[in-house]
Amino acid sequence: MEKAIIVVGLLSTLICSTAQVHGDTLVPLTLLKSAISKGAVCLDGSAPAYSYVEGSGNGSSSWMVYLEGGAWCYTLSDCQARSITPFGSSKFMKPYTNFSDIMDLNCTSYPDFCTWHKVYIHYCDGSSFMSDILHLKANLSFRGARIFNVMMQEMLGKGMGNAKEAMLVGSSAGGLATMLHCDKFRNLFPNTSRVKCISDSGFFLYGKDLHAHIIRKYYYGGVVKTHELANALPTTCTSKMDLNLCLFPEYFAGDIQTPLFILESAFDSFQVRYVVGFTSCVRLTTCNSTEIELMKDFRKTFIKTLFGLKNSSSRGMFVHSCYRHGHFPFSETSISLANKTIREAIADWYYDRSYSRELDTQHESPQDCSIHSFVPKPLNKHSLTSLPHNRLCFILCSFLLVFLVV
Ligand SMILES: *[C@@H]1O[C@H](CO)[C@@H](O)[C@H](O)[C@H]1NC(C)=O
Ligand SMILES: *[C@@H]1O[C@H](CO)[C@@H](O)[C@H](O)[C@H]1NC(C)=O
Ligand SMILES: *[C@@H]1O[C@H](CO)[C@@H](O)[C@H](O)[C@H]1NC(C)=O
Ligand SMILES: *[C@@H]1O[C@H](CO)[C@@H](O)[C@H](O)[C@H]1NC(C)=O
Ligand SMILES: *[C@@H]1O[C@H](CO)[C@@H](O)[C@H](O)[C@H]1NC(C)=O
Ligand SMILES: *[C@@H]1O[C@H](CO)[C@@H](O)[C@H](O)[C@H]1NC(C)=O
Ligand SMILES: *[C@@H]1O[C@H](CO)[C@@H](O)[C@H](O)[C@H]1NC(C)=O
Ligand SMILES: *[C@@H]1O[C@H](CO)[C@@H](O)[C@H](O)[C@H]1NC(C)=O
Repeated sequence: MEKAIIVVGLLSTLICSTAQVHGDTLVPLTLLKSAISKGAVCLDGSAPAYSYVEGSGNGSSSWMVYLEGGAWCYTLSDCQARSITPFGSSKFMKPYTNFSDIMDLNCTSYPDFCTWHKVYIHYCDGSSFMSDILHLKANLSFRGARIFNVMMQEMLGKGMGNAKEAMLVGSSAGGLATMLHCDKFRNLFPNTSRVKCISDSGFFLYGKDLHAHIIRKYYYGGVVKTHELANALPTTCTSKMDLNLCLFPEYFAGDIQTPLFILESAFDSFQVRYVVGFTSCVRLTTCNSTEIELMKDFRKTFIKTLFGLKNSSSRGMFVHSCYRHGHFPFSETSISLANKTIREAIADWYYDRSYSRELDTQHESPQDCSIHSFVPKPLNKHSLTSLPHNRLCFILCSFLLVFLVV
């Protein structure tokens, strides 16, 4: 999702070979060709890719690993379509990645992590870095878990294993991947290192009592089935729940041992669409009262679920009310809670400077806070309740559309 917007941004700004553009840094893509022989490849069999900036000074033993987002593919044909996009093949990835926000390299605008080693791992498997099978018939490689592993090996080769400070960050599908891989990431470091995970807009809710839960189960269950994730999903969930529900963080996030920060909108514009339906309610101003009520229901269930997770004193949260999805790598400096911006809240939590559980209790309705607010565009207006009967490529198509438009 994020990438689509960035692509639009990149094209409109003209890709330039100079590194610095108004404080944002365009970092070149590195193809990890050695991964091919290990079978760690994108959907189409191409090499996975990352963008890396070396740390310096006070950041020379600190590492930030970012997992890119971009939804999932949930059927074979959906995955086939994806394999000819940047989310399924490095052949189509842009040569530069914009490092900004939490990956900001400018110490004036974000002093806390500016000098860290930073790696942006591109997402091309469609399963939140979870899959590990070869689908011969469809001629597709489902190798997300292998990609994650070879990327970690690559970074360990650059010295990441000696990090005194490290964090795994991701947005959207990458935010889900961050939760799923958090404890594994932690184990790459000595137990004396400070290692934490930050999930941005990755808490995709099932909400069994919430409107249209069948749609969500159908979709995420499709991801589980298509990518054959049975043995990859957290056993804390698979041991007691229906497999098709084990990509939903409400059934596993409470068991994550590593400190985790959950950054979310209580009216996540991506998720809300799967509760409200793909109606004319795309901008808040066009939503009617029924739709706003459904959004309020979503918020209530979402907050109840987040705060109902098994208690952990190390967990940080920042749950605001702006109608949007994804904060990194979008620039999002405007949203504050308790007089703290998202950046400040994360840095304070990471360094144990203050208690960090912020929830916007003032607004019970969605707020229109930002020009960046993203809402997925449906291809057509089928109502949600009729969806299981339609073979709609409802999420992927929405961003494919963005590419086609571009
Ligand atoms: C860094 O950020 C500051 C404050 O936002 C800005 O004034 C400055 O131009 C930026 N530096 C670079 C090298 O872009
Ligand atoms: C399968 O995919 C690979 C990699 O993209 C390609 O080289 C090969 O020709 C494909 N095989 C078939 C049978 O489509
Ligand atoms: C690390 O060094 C940079 C550049 O010298 C500085 O701006 C930043 O405040 C330092 N960060 C920390 C956490 O000390
Ligand atoms: C770290 O690991 C060592 C060796 O495995 C163990 O003896 C020590 O108790 C651990 N420390 C903490 C704080 O967990
Ligand atoms: C709001 O819009 C939805 C879908 O467009 C429609 O089904 C519903 O009846 C509308 N509610 C009101 C109160 O207008
Ligand atoms: C977590 O702890 C808080 C405060 O200590 C308490 O109010 C809440 O009920 C606890 N939640 C769970 C799920 O145990
Ligand atoms: C990089 O991202 C920042 C923040 O989203 C944006 O302001 C800037 O225009 C982008 N730069 C390029 C060259 O795309
Ligand atoms: C909010 O933060 C600003 C800048 O850090 C500070 O000047 C102000 O006093 C704070 N306000 C409150 C209510 O804490």
